[in-house]
Amino acid sequence: MKLHYGRIFADKLDGTHGLPRARLQDLVQRFPTVLAEVRSRRREGEYGFYELGEQSETIAAIRRFAEGVGQAYDHVLVLGIGGSALGTKALVNALRPPAWNELDDEAREFYPRITILENVDPTTIAAALRRIDPRRVLVNVISKSGGTAETLAQYLVVRAWLDQALGSDAAVRHLAFTTDPAKGPLRALAEAEGIATLAVPPGVGGRFSVLTPVGLLPAALVGIDITGLIAGARRALARAESESLLQNPPALHAALHWAADAWLGARVHVLMPYSDRLRELSAWYAQLWAESLGKRVDRRGEAVQVGPTPLAAIGATDQHSLVQLFMEGPFDKVVTFVRVEHPGEDVSIPGAPGLPEELAYLAGHTMGELLLAEQEATSAALARMGRMTLTLSLPTLTAETLGELLMYFQLATGFAGAWYGVNPFDQPGVELGKRLTFAAMGRPGFNREPAPGAGGSHDVAG
Ligand code: PA5
Repeated sequence: MKLHYGRIFADKLDGTHGLPRARLQDLVQRFPTVLAEVRSRRREGEYGFYELGEQSETIAAIRRFAEGVGQAYDHVLVLGIGGSALGTKALVNALRPPAWNELDDEAREFYPRITILENVDPTTIAAALRRIDPRRVLVNVISKSGGTAETLAQYLVVRAWLDQALGSDAAVRHLAFTTDPAKGPLRALAEAEGIATLAVPPGVGGRFSVLTPVGLLPAALVGIDITGLIAGARRALARAESESLLQNPPALHAALHWAADAWLGARVHVLMPYSDRLRELSAWYAQLWAESLGKRVDRRGEAVQVGPTPLAAIGATDQHSLVQLFMEGPFDKVVTFVRVEHPGEDVSIPGAPGLPEELAYLAGHTMGELLLAEQEATSAALARMGRMTLTLSLPTLTAETLGELLMYFQLATGFAGAWYGVNPFDQPGVELGKRLTFAAMGRPGFNREPAPGAGGSHDVAG
């Protein structure tokens, strides 16, 4: 994987906008302090995701589970939200063929179908339960805290559905919980009922957990090469140890994004893969970047209200949607493209006799060529308009390169926390929302709090 970053500098743009190249030296000089901060926090037990490159026992246990119990089911139903769902969606989207659930058994090589229920929208849940056969489903309930209202509500609904179809004793065999190894309501339920469990490492937070059993179990169940994912992650981890900013791609990614935000006011950070298979990766990245870096207070407890706004886009589709804004709107964005140089499968564009020249020029090329040509053209056009971009180039999209990419973004987020001076691993805003939901739903010990300024509302019509 390569990071191309020339087009963030003013001399490669319109000469007026972008980062003055000389300022790269400021970043290089400040990097030892950032690296020291990251290393000292690692020693204190933060940054637990750095340990995920060595997981041979976990991988073996997941494999045993997937190849044993997992074989008995032809549908995997994942219940989880936020960091407990987005990574799994990214893995399945990238590493299973498109429309996986619509393929027949042979095309799926007899691996199960998979449904990931994140939201508590009753329409989605009711439709999923109508579609899935309870006799053939393995339900993987994923919640690190074990207490998130959305996931537990989903669990209660699905559990009643299983109990009714199979009886309570048999239902237990259709469940696997992925949760904290020692604490939380899901852990307690599992122990009381003898439900199979996998542990989320305590030092790894939800949005950093895709390469733990949170993402690895569902991935293995549908036949994704989890050893490859971890091998790729290991490669990213090794490169992130470099003490030279210019040799440390995720650290450089973080530094350039921070500089664009802090020095140039470019606080919208767009991730734009040119691959349908990386659409869900953008949603995963948006949560990672937003929840880790959007903070009210800094590490010293001083109010700072910082945080870039991530934006998920997809090429070439968004060239006909968001890109007009990127080209001509405010100078407040950095766009990171992701290219897959060899997509694996390609489709030739055929010619036909007598085609008008407006079509004939396409004939003889391939769809893959067109996609990559569009990425380069968009990047060049943005440069001409003085817009900052970075490009991550993947040779192919495999378990290894995806593992490397996922870990790259986690590492970049960890470094960005240090550049912004915030704790990238807490989420007090999310926790407040969770507590107020508990109160609204009548959970003992959680009181309703009056909303500031509550009391005024207007009907829009009539
Ligand atoms: O990144 C995070 O910590 C959050 O997005 C959590 O993943 C999300 O709130 C779900 O939490 P849990 O896994 O505890 O149910």
